[in-house]
Amino acid sequence: MNQELTLANFVLRRDEQGLAWLDIDCALSAVNRLSADVLQELGLVIDHLATQTPKGLIIQSVKPSGFIAGADIDEFSSLDHTEKGQALVTRGWQLFQRLANLPYPTLALIRGHCLGGGLELALACRYRLVVDVPDTRLALPEVMLGIFPGWGGMARLPRLIGPIAALDLMLSGRSIDAHRAVKLGVADAKVPVRLMHKAAIEHVLSGRPARRATGFKALLNQAWLRPLVAKQTLKAINQRDPHQHYQAPRAIVEVWEKHGGNALKAPELIEQLTRSEVAQNLLRVFHLQERLKSIGKRNSHPDVRHVHIIGAGVMGGDIAALCALRGITVTLQDQNRQSIAQSQGRAAALFTRRLKDPIAVRAALDRLIPDPEGKGVPRADVVLEAIVENAEAKRALYAQLEPQLKEHAILATNTSSLPLEELSLALQRPERLIGIHFFNPVARMPLVEVVETLESPLPLKQAAWAFVHQLGKLPLPVQSSPGFLVNAVLAPYMHEAMKCVDEGISPATIDLAAEQFGMPMGPLELIDTVGLDIALAVGQQLVPNSLTPQCLQQHVDKQHLGRKSGQGFYVWKQGKAQKPKAHSVPHGLSERLITPLIHRTLAQVRIGVVADDDLADAGIIFGTGFAPFRGGPLHYKTQLKASNPPKH
Ligand code: NAI
Repeated sequence: MNQELTLANFVLRRDEQGLAWLDIDCALSAVNRLSADVLQELGLVIDHLATQTPKGLIIQSVKPSGFIAGADIDEFSSLDHTEKGQALVTRGWQLFQRLANLPYPTLALIRGHCLGGGLELALACRYRLVVDVPDTRLALPEVMLGIFPGWGGMARLPRLIGPIAALDLMLSGRSIDAHRAVKLGVADAKVPVRLMHKAAIEHVLSGRPARRATGFKALLNQAWLRPLVAKQTLKAINQRDPHQHYQAPRAIVEVWEKHGGNALKAPELIEQLTRSEVAQNLLRVFHLQERLKSIGKRNSHPDVRHVHIIGAGVMGGDIAALCALRGITVTLQDQNRQSIAQSQGRAAALFTRRLKDPIAVRAALDRLIPDPEGKGVPRADVVLEAIVENAEAKRALYAQLEPQLKEHAILATNTSSLPLEELSLALQRPERLIGIHFFNPVARMPLVEVVETLESPLPLKQAAWAFVHQLGKLPLPVQSSPGFLVNAVLAPYMHEAMKCVDEGISPATIDLAAEQFGMPMGPLELIDTVGLDIALAVGQQLVPNSLTPQCLQQHVDKQHLGRKSGQGFYVWKQGKAQKPKAHSVPHGLSERLITPLIHRTLAQVRIGVVADDDLADAGIIFGTGFAPFRGGPLHYKTQLKASNPPKH
């Protein structure tokens, strides 16, 4: 094969059949990203091929990390005036338009991730083949950054698979695997690795017409039917985001409905989105997430193969299920066999939901081994304790465990409130105990606090961070201190909400105020979910020097413990709080609720529970769901200050 053009980010070769092969290999980066430079070079490749037309063009990545990870998102953060936003959209739109109009057949051979601008590039090719490996994932995740797929995705995807499925993918940002990509019609076919080049050659030379949505799906793309689809879609968006915090999903629908997906025809929307505070804050959240991921990734550590969990309750059972789901062998110990059986039942439901394939579900179930006598301890790489929150019981257990542990095994506790220093007293080597604090519900909450003391050895901390990363969670290093970061910050926020109830404001109004601010759930519904007895105990510990709210004491006295007893601040039916409608929120109520949360976050940074403001913001966003579009509590406070400078 002849190499005919070598650029910084591409190699163009020609084979003996006259096919051009474009290998993407972005310089100085482990992943391919479509920065301005890369797009410019792609333009040069297209120009070059016009001088000597190939029989076909096959575009592939030569990076092991995947096809293309998307645009270079840092270019969005520097869009400080309108022209730059317009120029960025125009650049990609026009280039992919040229790719789509080429007179010879083009094919994207997709192996690994193919995201955002990467998928838009693939959509501009005549054909797409997906390589059948687990890493192959296709998505248009722009909406998660508060922007839209403006390089042709909004036009081409609906034409390819119909607007319903296309809007669903663009509005959720969800990724699909190779199998689903073919089923939906995003890709033409799925191919095994060993045949991928042969299949690419056959396909690009096949002369088959390009795929398009047909029948009803095509009909829904017609200009006269689009408003109907748009109306239904907007209804669903408004249900999910009733306080209209996010503009990007609405903009996607509008650009598709009114302009057939061509964002250049809606310059005002490009300007609004690219320069919006929401988009900038979501970009910040993306970077915070990357930072947490890198804490787990940074230290190459051998994967954990066997975890032993003691305590098969709400937490231990669900952590065991998560480990087995992620391919780890788990032995699950409890003094009560019934708890182990119940955990297995919940695990089966999780595996079925997540894995779908019955063979994979069976294999995951086989990895979760009941072990009432604790035979797994001497073999485990991680021994995680999740028994009742009682320091004496925990200490007694560690004293039994310590002599059985493997030399480098991690000994961890899921305690949510007990200081490590107190729990480790019974150990010969107290410094080997570390906290790995999961949140409830385990499968859904992205954050895990990794709790250390000043004595914790670095290799132990690194191993714990890597383990959390292996489980697909975000590790946040925190110092052992009451409530660590997340619970310490939630406690005064919940306390303030209950003070409002004592003052006569209705729970539904208080929760609405928090939701209008952008919290995923109001503080009183959250207390009902956690349990009022727990809130009482935690409050006494984490909001010292303040009186227990009367409403809380009264409910607990009446055994109104929240969701678990069917009544708390709300009546609960079938797992749902029966909320009366709240109509208006008094001025300043949202700020009143959020202020103690912000102050406690600041205090936790000051006393060194987390290393810096960004990590604190990351912890609160991923540990509580704090309005991501506000960029975190401390960032929000800074922005508020900047928009309301003190008057002199
Ligand atoms: P749970 O009460 O649901 O389960 C505890 C389990 O431990 C029970 O099945 C019990 O039979 C078993 N157990 C007790 N002593 C034992 C022993 N010596 N040996 C073997 N098994 C024993 O408790 P949950 O809620 O799962 O909490 C467990 C730990 O996780 C606690 O430290 C708690 O603070 C922490 N945590 C709880 C959260 C929650 O939302 N429930 C959230 C984060 C942490």
